[in-house]
Amino acid sequence: MKTTFTFYGHSTLGLAVGDFQLVVDPYFTGNSATSMTPDQVHPDYILITHGHSDHLGDAVAIAKRRGATCIATSELCRWLSGKGVKTHAMHIGGGFHFPFGYLKLTPALHASMLPDGSNGGSPSGFLLTTSGGKKIYMAGDTGLFGDMRLIGEEGLDLAAIPIGDNFTMGPDDALRAVKLLTPKVVIPIHFNTYASIQQDGQAWKTRVEQETQTKVMLLRPGESYVIEA
Ligand code: NI
Ligand code: MN
Repeated sequence: MKTTFTFYGHSTLGLAVGDFQLVVDPYFTGNSATSMTPDQVHPDYILITHGHSDHLGDAVAIAKRRGATCIATSELCRWLSGKGVKTHAMHIGGGFHFPFGYLKLTPALHASMLPDGSNGGSPSGFLLTTSGGKKIYMAGDTGLFGDMRLIGEEGLDLAAIPIGDNFTMGPDDALRAVKLLTPKVVIPIHFNTYASIQQDGQAWKTRVEQETQTKVMLLRPGESYVIEA
């Protein structure tokens, strides 16, 4: 089974797992890193790490248009349900067998207030074991934490982690995160979108590949990476 990871820009990700289409943190409107519009993605499931506008993004509009199910923490799902979208509420440490694979919510050191000031509960990341057996960790917005080692123990094929600094881990802590996660491949995200998160992706790739066994894939917005079966 083929699993394709797409980087849309900033923290907006796509996953095609067999016939299932997933979008993670569907921020298109107002996202300076992409020229795509929300009507150009066709997800069956929408995964949302936290309530900040650069992650929640166009989730409500896309979910309504597609009849897609939003997957997030119970607090975020309560808010989304109030907007009339289908949800599957979960919480940190919990996993569930979806048709595309086993999805578990992971901790994230961040916040999750919604754009209208509602309490979004805790932020999260996602650890997906696809139905084809690939392990993909999407950290969400987070600072470095030592329990990334436990996530790494699962044996990651791919990790997408923030390197932008200011709001999340910066390049130095993201390098330490790679050493804890030990993924086969890492894709840096959440950088260069704003002036406060400008980073040199190529320099980070060089450092990571000198100091670890992990390969760094630098994806430009719209580019995809295929995890081979
Ligand atoms: Ni955030
Ligand atoms: Mn963010």
